[in-house]
Amino acid sequence: MRQTLLLCLLLAIFTVFGVSKYADSADEPKLIREDPLQDMDALMKTADRLWKDTSLGTAGVSCSTCHPDGKDLRAEPFPRRIEMANDILTLDQMINFCMTFPMKGKPLQWNSREMTALAAYVKAHAK
Ligand code: HEC
Repeated sequence: MRQTLLLCLLLAIFTVFGVSKYADSADEPKLIREDPLQDMDALMKTADRLWKDTSLGTAGVSCSTCHPDGKDLRAEPFPRRIEMANDILTLDQMINFCMTFPMKGKPLQWNSREMTALAAYVKAHAK
């Protein structure tokens, strides 16, 4: 009888407070973006537009100036060594390298819609 009562008490405590597999709520996974992307076709339209957008940087050029229709984008997966950067880079780091140097712009936020769109363009056009 006592054991049953104890069990009921424990069950009630777990039900009220919940049991998280994360020790600290700060460790719980967060969404990448508050407004997650859902539509791949819409993302590719954004990608095509951004690729030709000279306002991404201040050098007066776009990604398309040097990579028209994806010129020089290679399908070999990242991370890999990039001669121009003298470094081993992920795709996002490579995009931000070109954003910063040839484009003379600001690096894109890692979780921005723009970064995802440009990465999708690279994936779609790399040969
Ligand atoms: C002024 C010319 C220029 C502009 C503008 C430019 N790039 Fe590049 N990009 C290069 C050069 C040169 C390389 C080759 C680097 C190397 O392999 O050493 C390169 C390499 C890359 C690569 C790696 C290609 C591969 O597969 O090896 C990616 C991805 C890339 N650029 C993305 C972009 C994006 C995105 C933009 C626009 C935000 C952009 N680039 C704008 C010149 C440019």
